[in-house]
Amino acid sequence: MTEQQKLKWSPGKRDLLFLGIVAAVVLILVLGSSERKTKPVPNDETHRTVTSRDSCMVCHGSDGVSPQPKEHIKGGQCFQCHRQPKEWGKGK
Ligand code: HEC
Ligand code: HEC
Repeated sequence: MTEQQKLKWSPGKRDLLFLGIVAAVVLILVLGSSERKTKPVPNDETHRTVTSRDSCMVCHGSDGVSPQPKEHIKGGQCFQCHRQPKEWGKGK
């Protein structure tokens, strides 16, 4: 596209609506494909108060009450993928 063509093109309402929809779809796809697409950390008494990876692993290690799946990555920052509860850190 040349500079002149760009200047001549003046979008009508319909074009803008279309562009808006395209932008929204792209945004959804981008956000959806980023990290944190797995289950969030439950927003309950337990999960609001734990802050260290070690304490997560007391329950979610292989001997815990709710072990991670076998194929789960070892290590990593839990909250990088599992969104922390809304009220996180406020409890205690
Ligand atoms: C005192 C034990 C305990 C601790 C500590 C604990 N959890 Fe949990 N967690 C559980 C139990 C039990 C479940 C399953 C029942 C439920 O959904 O509440 C669970 C469920 C989960 C789930 C899955 C939710 C789902 O939808 O299936 C995630 C993710 C999770 N915990 C992450 C964490 C992270 C990250 C930490 C550390 C910040 C942590 N947990 C600390 C006991 C614990
Ligand atoms: C690189 C991303 C990533 C990191 C970091 C991560 N997890 Fe996960 N975790 C996942 C994925 C993906 C699943 C698969 C669960 C699903 O079906 O969404 C999962 C599943 C789980 C489950 C089982 C949930 C269920 O009930 O099916 C638990 C518990 C869990 N993770 C705990 C943890 C804890 C504790 C940490 C920190 C030590 C952690 N995760 C760090 C990606 C991650």
